Amino acid sequence: MTDTIYRRPQDYELEHRGDDDDVAFYGQLVERFEPRRILELACGSGRLTAPIAERRPDAPLEVVGVELSESMLALAHQRVGEASELVRQRVSLHKGDMRTWSSDRLFDLVIIGCSSITHLLRLEDRLQVWRNARRLLSPGGRLVIDVTMADIRTFSASLDRYDEMPSHLAEKVVAEHKKDTADAASH
Ligand SMILES: C[S@@+](CC[C@H](N)C(=O)[O-])C[C@H]1O[C@@H](n2cnc3c(N)ncnc32)[C@H](O)[C@@H]1O
Repeated sequence: MTDTIYRRPQDYELEHRGDDDDVAFYGQLVERFEPRRILELACGSGRLTAPIAERRPDAPLEVVGVELSESMLALAHQRVGEASELVRQRVSLHKGDMRTWSSDRLFDLVIIGCSSITHLLRLEDRLQVWRNARRLLSPGGRLVIDVTMADIRTFSASLDRYDEMPSHLAEKVVAEHKKDTADAASH
């Protein structure tokens, strides 16, 4: 499923241009908890990974990003390759699934940003991630995730605007919504 959604990483970048609240939030976590090793699961295009790696420039810090989609990972490699020398030295990127990716090294901070966990629709898959994160954390380490909560008022307002859309577009939106709902229910 993620291959379809993320096959155009530049569109993802466009969608998230100017979204820097979460970048600041995770940056502040680095300042506050002073981790030496950070793991970002589902790191995508490195939107959070690279700026996090700029933090605490005088302290030892390694940042590992793990991502399932090859196209998103390719953009993350490009982003890190074009970043400062500090970021290039600190960041390593790996293709992997957050449910199963393993390492023989442990992390002080594991993050899963930007609602990435919601790609996993089954409880068992999410439990696998929590167990995996637990295995990858050093004693006293922290797992931090963020998930956007549905805003029912926005959703309702968007439904009210169907009549402003050209009818073929409104039909397409409704059909896609029905298909998504059916797909989610069959998992
Ligand atoms: C909303 S994007 C977030 C990317 C990045 N963390 C950010 O904040 O911009 C979700 C990412 O999760 C990745 N993803 C989905 N399922 C995954 C899995 N099982 N393991 C690793 N990555 C996954 C997708 O390919 C996508 O890049």
